[in-house]
Amino acid sequence: MKKITHFLSLILMLMILSACASKTSTATPLTNTPEPTLTHTPEPVAPTPEPTLETHPIYLDPEAPVEARVEDLLARMTLEEKLGQMTLIEKNSVQPKGVTEYFLGGILSGGGGSPESNNVSHWVEMVNSFQQAALETRLKIPIIYGVDAVHGHGNLKGATIFPHNVGLGATHDADLLTRIGQATAEEMAATGIWWNYAPVLAVVQDIRWGRTYEAYSENTEVVTTLGTAYLQGLQGTSLAEPFTVLATPKHFIGDGGTTWGTSTTNNYQIDQGDMQVDETTLRTLFLPPYQAAVDAGAMSLMASYSSWNGTKMHAQGPLLTDLFKGELGFQGFVVSDWAGIDQIDADFYTSVVISINAGVDMNMVPYDHVMFINALTKAVEQGDISLARIDDAVRRILRTKFMLGLFERPFPDPAWESLVGSADHRVLGQEAVRKSLVLLQNENAALPIAKDTPLIFIAGEYADNIGAQCGGWTIEWQGVAANITPGTTILEAFEATVSAGTTVQYNRFGRFENVLDENNQPAIAEVGIVVVGEAPYAEGQGDRADLALSEKDIALITQVRPQVNKLVVILLSGRPLIITEQLPLADAWVAAWLPGTEGQGIADVLFGDYPFTGKLAFSWPRSMEQVPLSALQASAEGALFPFGFGLEE
Ligand code: BGC
Ligand code: BGC
Repeated sequence: MKKITHFLSLILMLMILSACASKTSTATPLTNTPEPTLTHTPEPVAPTPEPTLETHPIYLDPEAPVEARVEDLLARMTLEEKLGQMTLIEKNSVQPKGVTEYFLGGILSGGGGSPESNNVSHWVEMVNSFQQAALETRLKIPIIYGVDAVHGHGNLKGATIFPHNVGLGATHDADLLTRIGQATAEEMAATGIWWNYAPVLAVVQDIRWGRTYEAYSENTEVVTTLGTAYLQGLQGTSLAEPFTVLATPKHFIGDGGTTWGTSTTNNYQIDQGDMQVDETTLRTLFLPPYQAAVDAGAMSLMASYSSWNGTKMHAQGPLLTDLFKGELGFQGFVVSDWAGIDQIDADFYTSVVISINAGVDMNMVPYDHVMFINALTKAVEQGDISLARIDDAVRRILRTKFMLGLFERPFPDPAWESLVGSADHRVLGQEAVRKSLVLLQNENAALPIAKDTPLIFIAGEYADNIGAQCGGWTIEWQGVAANITPGTTILEAFEATVSAGTTVQYNRFGRFENVLDENNQPAIAEVGIVVVGEAPYAEGQGDRADLALSEKDIALITQVRPQVNKLVVILLSGRPLIITEQLPLADAWVAAWLPGTEGQGIADVLFGDYPFTGKLAFSWPRSMEQVPLSALQASAEGALFPFGFGLEE
């Protein structure tokens, strides 16, 4: 009887405690946590005993030091629970109940990984359903949900899309990068997502690489300065704040430094290839941005798909563990890239053993968590992976989750929805676009354009195409050249900027013969704008042997030239293209990169409301003979436009 009474009082205390816990947590905004309902309140049978560690664990105490919470929680975990924490699954590959059943540690949306209805409330619902499932486990360890918000919360329709990094590099404006990081964190937090797979810290040595636009520069120092500034914007001064998110410098290491033709993935050429450099080069060219990121508080790191002298980065213990965790002093966790460990060996078990022992802490599996957990379990049972290694990985993951405040604030506040695509963020995007533009040529005072120019012709499919402005990693992994998300196209921006008396004629094919002057002759416009460039792409699908401007674009420029007095070319591209022969056809030439949703920034500068300030963060080659960068450096002639170039009108 005594035993039973004791048991009942324990239950009662548990219920009271959990009710209290939910009360305190309502102080921070909680949306989807159902209030525990005390339906069968038992008669009080005994005075409430003092809380014990059993009933009031240290790890759930927000006041306890992070390390104490980590150790307390780790000590309570079964092997199954630990291995679950090391597992990161793509959201389409698992149901919420799978999170509960396998104690999964993380969920991600890959490129294009939106809910069926792509809007904020459905994102919140989707993310919360996984979080709810995690909180239903015995130890209630929240999941960490990740996305590639590489230029704003790009998978979310209606989010502010900032210029891709290739454009931000040209701004050379660290403060701007910090503010973009902050804005991106706010839009992510509105969807309950506090983990961003950014920034890319690649130092691009070969612009044929399809990920060039994800990088700030070919120059180590520029990448270091801007990458750190952005990371600080994402993470703020405390990760525990609701509007700060965990950054993930990627892809470690030597991203942008692989050799053309060495990729073994799909039909890729250079992406995921082999970096063939010595250790000194690795340390001087590629390491500084990572050192700076760790010093600035980076707590998660993504390994690169590529190899270093024949060994996959996911298998590089000397780099992941000795260099990054040891020498650089990284206290956070290493996440694999998407099925990155699978590339180590044809045998999955072997891949798991090698990568986890090399230092991968969380595996972006991404499809089959059961297969991964089984392999990991077997590896521990057979002694191929030590329990100490597992504990180290789990400690790193838990430490980061505690620092992020996920235990205290697992859900977003619905009131934050209005942050997504807010007017303030769009104004910031517009500023970023203005500062990213690089003026390569300006003859005959073609720029700035007078707002009261009587007639302006605008040509090119991409003049009125949000998707082309945004590039890859927008709504879909590869991006889509269509009006996929709200924003301002270049054409709309021009129409909004010119005077009431100005006629803007748009024809995507550059056919203006039907526009007649007062003598009924085909009109010659004072100014013609031709928008040309690359169709959206991502990763190795953008690897290109030849970076020439397309035949179609050359034809368009040629077509418009005789119909206008002054011709301005706006180039939308993820990297410098070969334009040496087309340049003389134009009066002015503007590199606009991949500006994102805020096209008004282009009109702001072209009509002279703001000056051109952007400076190249990539050398601009004359021909493909000057690609990669080493070839340019060896060439006698020099670049068409050198690093740092940019006219100010
Ligand atoms: C990319 C990473 C990205 C991950 C998740 C991979 O293919 O290389 O940059 O973070 O997918 O989308
Ligand atoms: C995903 C991306 C990922 C890629 C890797 C795509 O299906 O959406 O996030 O990077 O696969 O191949």
